[in-house]
Amino acid sequence: MTADKLTLFLSRDQIDQLNQDLAEKITRDYLALDVTPSNFLVIVTLKGAVFFAADLIRKIPISMKIDFVKLSSYGLETKSSGSIALQKDTEIAVKDQHVLILDEIVDSGRTLSFLLDHLAVKMPKSIKVATLLSKPSRREVPVQIDYCGQEVADKFLVGYGLDYAEKYRQLQEIYALESA
Ligand code: IMP
Ligand code: MG
Repeated sequence: MTADKLTLFLSRDQIDQLNQDLAEKITRDYLALDVTPSNFLVIVTLKGAVFFAADLIRKIPISMKIDFVKLSSYGLETKSSGSIALQKDTEIAVKDQHVLILDEIVDSGRTLSFLLDHLAVKMPKSIKVATLLSKPSRREVPVQIDYCGQEVADKFLVGYGLDYAEKYRQLQEIYALESA
């Protein structure tokens, strides 16, 4: 058994502040768009973004519909292979919706790029992306991120939805992981 070494990266308070700032920007923009529950659809990526989405959405005082998608990348464990599969599609119709995708972290950009292409075919009225974290130095595919909580260096992070082999999602804070 190898022991994982976790170093605190973002505290609860820091995460709350990032969410607050994102919520304010999103609220301002979507109020200006005059969205209604009939045309505002928030799409959350399973499983990692669930914690972020639950906190963020409750700071946005606008009625919306919420749906989930699940994507997975196949290939070597530690490296994104670039081959993405859709494991769960949206259930709510995307056509003519103002779609806001919530993801917890953008790394190579391949997952998000795949999802954006997949949703574009369904003819949304608009489509934007919000992510809590982004690792720009890891980008392999360019993706436009409309709302980013914080850019981070190339570290492997866990907690607050982020996992390492399905572990650590439940942690309140975000930690950098080093395998000892
Ligand atoms: P991408 O397709 O390379 O951008 O990968 C995006 C997905 O990989 C994220 O939504 C996460 O699920 C996962 N991921 C990327 N970086 C990390 C990390 O540091 N910790 C945990 N999961 C990560
Ligand atoms: Mg994810």
